[in-house]
Amino acid sequence: MRVPMMAGNWKMNQTIPEAIALARGICELASEYDNVERVICPSFVCLSAVRSVVADVSILLGAQNMHWADRGPYTGEISPTMLEGLVQYVILGHSERRQHFCETDETVNRKVQAALAHGLTPIVCVGESLEQNQAGETYAFVGRQVRAALEGLGPEQVGQLVFAYEPIWAIGTGRAATPEQAEEVCSNVVRGTLRELYGHELAEAVRILYGGSTNPDNIQAFMEQPDIDGALIGGASLKADSYAAMVRITSELYARQAQQE
Ligand code: PGA
Repeated sequence: MRVPMMAGNWKMNQTIPEAIALARGICELASEYDNVERVICPSFVCLSAVRSVVADVSILLGAQNMHWADRGPYTGEISPTMLEGLVQYVILGHSERRQHFCETDETVNRKVQAALAHGLTPIVCVGESLEQNQAGETYAFVGRQVRAALEGLGPEQVGQLVFAYEPIWAIGTGRAATPEQAEEVCSNVVRGTLRELYGHELAEAVRILYGGSTNPDNIQAFMEQPDIDGALIGGASLKADSYAAMVRITSELYARQAQQE
């Protein structure tokens, strides 16, 4: 069974004191659910401070982006070398970065390769726009994004990746995809592409998250889907109680499923 993951993407929110307070709240409410991997992704400036808060509990840290070069004349950027040892995960190719900061399939792939080379686990984001969705282009578009992210990677590297399917129209809108819609893309497109390129066994080992307006009310229905292994949570991860509720619901669901097996 794939270990479920609840990853909180805090985006450009929180000052350092606010991030510390949120992390403390999460430690208090979410530290006991060890059958769920809990990852929080604060802004770069808050990482060190949050790291000292979560140091003693089993909550992992992720960054929200990264440059591919180890160092150099890239004003304002953060390198994999800087993140090594500080975080375990790094979100790459989030649609907000693709939309507002000109990230392309090619740069996302370079970042994926760099992250892996430095022992960081990428959470690779893919997802279509509303127009693409309405034009029936979801499968083709998301399939291309997945393939591009995988370019040049060997099976061992692919086995370490986490994917997040996040339809752009569902992010921050309160209009989540239906669990069935999300499952369809996670299964047929993301896992399907992995299967086609790397075989059944490897495809089955990779975790795929859904992201886009998830919350404590809808998380169970997403987590009941066979090919959805977790969530990348924006808004609902900014409150300790709603994030912890999503962790608890997932933990209880997986505990029940484990008993049935
Ligand atoms: P949301 O964001 O949960 O606020 O929709 C998800 C994301 O962008 O990762």
